[in-house]
Amino acid sequence: MRFEPARSLSGEVRAPADKSISHRAALLGAMASEPVRIERYLHAADTTSTLQAVQALGALVEVRGDRVVIRGTGLREAREPERAIDVGNAGTLLRLLPGWLAAQEGRSFTLDGDSSIRARPVDRIAAPLREMGAEVQAREGRFPPLQVRGGRLRAIDYELGVASAQVKSCVLLAALAADGATTVTEPARSRDHTERMLLKAGVTIAREGRRLRVLNADELLLDSVSVPGDPSSAAFMVAAGVLVPGSRLLIADVGVNWTRTGFLRIVRRMQGIVLGDLEEETEELVEHEPVSDLDVAHGALEATVVEAPEVPLAIDELPLVALLGCFAEGETVVRGAQELRLKETDRISGVVEGLRALGADIEATADGFAVRGNGGLRGGTIDARGDHRMAMMGAVAGLASSEGVEVLGMDAAAVSYPGFVEDLAGLAS
Ligand code: S3P
Repeated sequence: MRFEPARSLSGEVRAPADKSISHRAALLGAMASEPVRIERYLHAADTTSTLQAVQALGALVEVRGDRVVIRGTGLREAREPERAIDVGNAGTLLRLLPGWLAAQEGRSFTLDGDSSIRARPVDRIAAPLREMGAEVQAREGRFPPLQVRGGRLRAIDYELGVASAQVKSCVLLAALAADGATTVTEPARSRDHTERMLLKAGVTIAREGRRLRVLNADELLLDSVSVPGDPSSAAFMVAAGVLVPGSRLLIADVGVNWTRTGFLRIVRRMQGIVLGDLEEETEELVEHEPVSDLDVAHGALEATVVEAPEVPLAIDELPLVALLGCFAEGETVVRGAQELRLKETDRISGVVEGLRALGADIEATADGFAVRGNGGLRGGTIDARGDHRMAMMGAVAGLASSEGVEVLGMDAAAVSYPGFVEDLAGLAS
């Protein structure tokens, strides 16, 4: 699909529903004893995989447009499915679901997915789940298919080796069925949707700095979850608005939980214009997921440096930081982001090779990249490599380029943002 240079972007777009929060709402809904109503569930490939997974485990799922009602099985009553659970392309499902399955005493489960999923490491969740008392096996000890046999779980004190919200969430879900208080310490703050939703579900959970303490629970009482717009999906529109001269956009209903808005802070630091009511950094755990409209306008960009503590707060948007760097004055550097190599594709080599083919002066480092702004991008062809975020970055690059960009594999966007091309076209017309 080709994306021609845009003259300017204007108008209003509503961010699609949050993928991270939709996954969590479906999983906690399945773990709850009473029906849970989810308002504005994301209907995209990844989150459809989650609905199918919880159905295979015995939850009843009723879809009425954006509203999804889940009648769960309760914390310890997931059914053993006859076949492997297909997680599709969804890394979040692959890492979170085993936390629940680990507590299903005497029952066995297999998780598998597409070719990209088969290259995503699961040893990071296997280690804590084994320590808690589940039996876990993976191909070569590290990759899906992943097998989990539930057990009687022990509470543990777990120190995460990587700042990963997925691994943290997996341990928190398992902790609900453990025999006491579990603590999880993260090396840096990462998205905290699981913690917020557990608090809302009546779980005793508290944070002290980078340490979380969660008590086991008899049941989850969630009632309803309202899903905000996804800041990671909105980020593509933000980047487009900031890059294309003369643009002025309104992006409505964006989730602005501060653990997700690292990219917006980076854009502001680069002198891009993003107005909105962003949540302030807090240590205290709250139930609420804040929402704001974002007002975006083109700005003359300056380079910036992104260091390790900021990485988990902008992890999925770092390819866009590279794209902005192509248009900024000076050298933009991202460090401490080696986790990017383990995403849907290796997003360090994908971004560097992809943007270089469009005219960028960019190089890869072991843990990130460095890009020198050279007046923007010429254009050319970029291969999404089956990665939804690479596809959408390529499309935005096309709008901001001087000659246009052809994206190979644009359909990958359906993993998180099925209406992306239409939304972008609406802003360009
Ligand atoms: C996610 C956490 C991040 C992120 C992913 C979604 C989540 O992964 O990259 O897209 O919903 O918890 P890691 O926890 O592996 O960093």
